[in-house]
Amino acid sequence: MAKTRSTYRCSECGSEGPQWTGRCAGCGAWNTIVEERLVPAAAASRPSGLAAPSRAMPIAEVESEGWEPRPVGIGELDRVLGGGLVAGSVTLLGGEPGIGKSTLLLQALAALAAGGARCLLACGEESAQQVRLRASRLGALDPRLWLVAETELPAILAHAEAIAPDVLVVDSIQTVFDPDLASAPGSVGQVRECAHRLVRAAKEANRATVLVGHVTKDGALAGPRVLEHVVDTVLSFEGERHHALRLLRAVKHRFGSTGELGLFEMTDLGLAGVPDPGRLFLSDRQLNAPGSAVVATLEGHRPLVVELQSLVAKSGLATPRRSAQGLDAGRLAMVAAVIEERAKVPLTGGDVYALAVGGVRVVEPGADLALALAILSSVTGIALPADLVACGEVGLCGELRQVSQTGRRLAEAARLGFRRALVPMSAPDPPAGIEALRAATLSDAVGMAGLLKAGKPVGFPRAAPA
Ligand code: TYD
Ligand code: MG
Repeated sequence: MAKTRSTYRCSECGSEGPQWTGRCAGCGAWNTIVEERLVPAAAASRPSGLAAPSRAMPIAEVESEGWEPRPVGIGELDRVLGGGLVAGSVTLLGGEPGIGKSTLLLQALAALAAGGARCLLACGEESAQQVRLRASRLGALDPRLWLVAETELPAILAHAEAIAPDVLVVDSIQTVFDPDLASAPGSVGQVRECAHRLVRAAKEANRATVLVGHVTKDGALAGPRVLEHVVDTVLSFEGERHHALRLLRAVKHRFGSTGELGLFEMTDLGLAGVPDPGRLFLSDRQLNAPGSAVVATLEGHRPLVVELQSLVAKSGLATPRRSAQGLDAGRLAMVAAVIEERAKVPLTGGDVYALAVGGVRVVEPGADLALALAILSSVTGIALPADLVACGEVGLCGELRQVSQTGRRLAEAARLGFRRALVPMSAPDPPAGIEALRAATLSDAVGMAGLLKAGKPVGFPRAAPA
């Protein structure tokens, strides 16, 4: 029997060292080094791949067939995957517990099976009965969809060989373990080694494989970052726990762009695609309410028209509060400072609350102008015109700066019925149906949005009417 040996590995970046340290030398993270006990290579795995020597060839002669994606049949998922799953590819789906990963994949397998694909779901987190119950609720009882409740890797691979599925889903990679490895189930070494073997098996059998991965509180994939390196595609499933909206995006994609965004809503019947998010984000909007502004933003390549709200209220604190929900706290503080210093609107003694409506996160600088207008509208008590959207970055000198793809943003706003767009001076001509109001500075924008009283900006606290 071969002797085991230990190594110490960072669970964040995967770098390896001879001894335990409090801080990883590779990535600088604290308390991430874990011991990993290894079986010597000869005992752990067979030599592979050397039987068929590789051959170099002109690039144009390399076989390119078989790389067409197979559509899953769920529009929003196919959009993010760039058409569907590629045979032999490995996809990692990451997301917080309870966000809907298992639901999404069960629905995806059901859709694939309905389209004629053989599918195998290996679930290590739930019992077969639990999955079956959920499947009957979601209408996923297709005879081509196979299920096994298993956590041992050799057994999963044996089932995959016997059933020969076109698509294999492993839910989750953290529960899978190989008894031949000395390290404990769920440890970095296990997760990494099991993922490697699943990737190898996927390539050998030309089988599309999807691994579910948990993420930690701060959004990183639990387990070593190496997981992200060995797979072809990394998808991230996100959303606010208290909202039904779920966002799916590709963080890494070897077969297409990473700019696409998929939108889902969690319903009683599973996840439903949201092909027209504009209506969702704006459906409860109060017209003529001070403190509300609409931004034409961009998530990846996808234009989203989102309402931003702000409330400036009297503060009882020595340092007034700046509270951001679904927005970047740093940008809120900056925009508030520019409002005071450059647009000369005091916010003295006011707490500033700001949020993006609908459970979506709007963190790009292009939302600055709309955020500033929402704050100023709350301060003045004057509502912005109902048919006005804004997009532009606010600079520290109070100037407005152009953002990318203004045309696509404004086209979406025009489709949703907005007729005027407040944009930076340098913005390109707007698409048909919407008029551009160009402003060089935030002060100019305040005037153009109708937020002046008797030609003057109004600050906080608002003077009582004389
Ligand atoms: P799940 O897919 O189990 O999440 P994950 O695999 O990411 O941990 O889904 C978790 C939540 O989704 C659960 O709290 C209940 C909710 N849900 C619905 O609201 N409707 C449904 O039809 C299903 C299946 C789940
Ligand atoms: Mg799950």
